[in-house]
Amino acid sequence: MDSLSVFPRRRLMKLLLAGPILTAAAWDALKAEANQAVTALSRKYLEDESPDGAYWEELHNFYAFENRFIMMNNGTCGPMPKPVFHALMKAFQTQVSNPYDVYAYQPTFIEAVRRKLAAFIHAEPEEVALVSNTTEGINLIVNGLDMKEGDEVLVTSLEHPGHINPWRLKEKRSGIKVRQVDMPLFPNSVDEIVGAFAAAVTPRTRMISISHTVFITGLIMPLKELSALAREKGLFLLADSAHGIGMLDLNMKEAGVDFFMSSPYKWLGAPTGIGVLYVRREVLEKVWPTIVSSGWDRDKTAAKLDPQGQRADALLFALDEAMNFNNHIGRRRIEKRIKVLSGHLKKELQKIRGVKLHTPLDVYLSAGLTAFSVEGVDAARIVDYLREKYNLVVRTTGNREAGTYGVRVSTPIYTSFREADLVVEGVRHLASRKV
Ligand SMILES: Cc1ncc(COP(=O)(O)O)c(C=O)c1O
Repeated sequence: MDSLSVFPRRRLMKLLLAGPILTAAAWDALKAEANQAVTALSRKYLEDESPDGAYWEELHNFYAFENRFIMMNNGTCGPMPKPVFHALMKAFQTQVSNPYDVYAYQPTFIEAVRRKLAAFIHAEPEEVALVSNTTEGINLIVNGLDMKEGDEVLVTSLEHPGHINPWRLKEKRSGIKVRQVDMPLFPNSVDEIVGAFAAAVTPRTRMISISHTVFITGLIMPLKELSALAREKGLFLLADSAHGIGMLDLNMKEAGVDFFMSSPYKWLGAPTGIGVLYVRREVLEKVWPTIVSSGWDRDKTAAKLDPQGQRADALLFALDEAMNFNNHIGRRRIEKRIKVLSGHLKKELQKIRGVKLHTPLDVYLSAGLTAFSVEGVDAARIVDYLREKYNLVVRTTGNREAGTYGVRVSTPIYTSFREADLVVEGVRHLASRKV
């Protein structure tokens, strides 16, 4: 489909005649064309929720993967759809042709992006900071809260280094205590999880700080129930949802968390370098900003946590376009598709002798990350085999001593049942040979 490629040849030749590099108008034209196409496609299939229908096949055309490359790891970063790339290029192009607009015009767009982002996650604009990534968001909260010696923070053994280390630093500097809750490694019910936290709370506990999207096992933590517990006990709840935005239809009001951070370059399609930090309105005044410039003592909204000094506003334009792209498809539809794909993957993997699922089957406690191990087959061997045989990328996860070592597979919207079946085929082959 000519008009949907990143550089449609005939069009590109025409555009290049205008000068040595593409103009802002040219990037705009490419972006608008892709946007119209995805809107038309979503309208056409509005009534068709058939999970393996033509809709998803066509949607794959909005990505520009190398020939037959299959991306089933959304850790670190996932792909940018073409219209997002066009928006990014257009915004960067401004610095080439009219750097004045980089500071005179581009920053005027920031508040519109903040509003769109707030609506996207069902929050208020004053509760949203536009940070660089999840790790930065966590550091800003951990560092910005006044806590005293002996105050306790409850975590699990499944936290990401970018989540646990800010707390370790604070432990060293301020004498707070970080305590690991005795929660099953592979819980299968909300009660198991909430019960473990309820049992761990002491009079010194101030905070529950957990992953929403557990990167090791693919568990989705039940935020609504944990926030009810936190509220009842008078605790803060921080949810590290690095994978959440673009994977789940997020709703901050329903989740009830105090602090929430996510990285939109994993599942949403934004470029690396832009992140989301949510701070519930009622606790905003409890957080000190860490990096400041003028106005820090006046700003009472989450914007006080925005990066200071000059930053690449081009990333905001691309984030805006990534939200448009997801909104054209529909956030609920995306979550549903992702869960249907992972459900299929889990069902088929379970049929293979020796496979142990590390991710719950329950769709409330799981989503787009599926982790598993195979008795007698090294996870690294599975990762290598899938890459060599099918050009398909997954990753190893967890660690042997903890009993969580395994393979992790992502099932984002640009993948298919056929691709999930390739994973199953590869695992079945290796499991039968035990290599
Ligand atoms: C649960 C969790 N927290 C934090 C991070 C760090 O994210 P980032 O590098 O985007 O800051 C990740 C990365 O995958 C993660 O999975």
